[in-house]
Amino acid sequence: MKIQGKHYRSIWVNPNDPRQIQTFDQRKIPFQITIETWTSYKDAVIAIKEMHVRGAPLIGVSGAYGLYLATLEAPSENPLPFLEKAKNELENARPTAVNLSWAVNKVWNVIKNLRSIEDMRATALAMANQLADEDVKMCKRIGEAGLPLIEEIYARTGKPVNILTHCNAGWIATIDYGTITAPIYMAHRKGIPVHVWVSETRPRNQGSRITAWELGEEGVPHTVIADNASGLIIQEGKVDIVLVGADRVVRNGDTANKIGTLMKAVVAHEYGIPFYVALPSSTFDPSLDIGSQIPIEVRSEDEVLYTEGWINDDINRVRVAPFNSHAYNPAFDVTPAKFITGYITDKGVLTAEQLHTLVEKGIKTV
Ligand code: MRU
Repeated sequence: MKIQGKHYRSIWVNPNDPRQIQTFDQRKIPFQITIETWTSYKDAVIAIKEMHVRGAPLIGVSGAYGLYLATLEAPSENPLPFLEKAKNELENARPTAVNLSWAVNKVWNVIKNLRSIEDMRATALAMANQLADEDVKMCKRIGEAGLPLIEEIYARTGKPVNILTHCNAGWIATIDYGTITAPIYMAHRKGIPVHVWVSETRPRNQGSRITAWELGEEGVPHTVIADNASGLIIQEGKVDIVLVGADRVVRNGDTANKIGTLMKAVVAHEYGIPFYVALPSSTFDPSLDIGSQIPIEVRSEDEVLYTEGWINDDINRVRVAPFNSHAYNPAFDVTPAKFITGYITDKGVLTAEQLHTLVEKGIKTV
């Protein structure tokens, strides 16, 4: 997608040096657009942990490129112990989004059986590139699957389609297009009037900082709301459809996504507003049966006790709670399948039952 008119993916191999991986430091968006360069797998581990890169599909591909960097650092003689340590650090950098362990293990399970370090390097790079390309294709298919939902609302109401979203499931959380943004961009480009309510997503504000920035760069009308305003705007009939991303969807359709998603789902259900989860197949976890089995990341209390913004020509942090108060900061919640109208996937729009049937057939193959 575009930044100031120029097309970017969210992560790429440095065209001038294939031993380097480049990405955006998302902690600074929208105030500073900076590209960071990874030369070691440790750079990838830190970037995932500290959320320079974030969003389930992007951290998956980041983990795969991290393992490629590890092959460049591993000793030629007996590289496997070094690589296995790197693999473990990468897949455990964040716990909730299943894409991370899936992508890292996909690469690991192939390279661990190769004979030479040269083959491991070439294969890890080719696989990471392939995962990135496949993610782009999946997001495009999600867009094509989700577009008719927006078209149908417009055909029925004849009014701009009001979409409520949460966190950031846009192009920079994936490799390109985004999941929930793919159908939105397609509708916008087709001339269907859309308006997005962007929930700010405390504590890290991925909505107000990243989603609003992305939509603005593409010229999509949007309005930022405080997270707490979503109940009221649903109740007032100002929302036609809720679209959210996902970090892990398990066999029965229960869905982990950014903290605050559950509250939106419950309110939307109460008021009869369709609530869709958009995800690529890489976000399904067929190894878990129900949502309560999903590990929930608990992050630093400082993310709640402080907030961050643009002051005095720089990004600065300010304290927003008393100095002697503590905070609890679970980063994800799990929305039970009963509150989810459907899943917008690269295999089409599915109900929880259809999802279950596809999982049985091996949906995770891309
Ligand atoms: O903690 P984050 O910012 O990585 O959480 C991201 C989300 O919850 C997204 O909605 C999800 O990963 C979907 S990304 C297409």
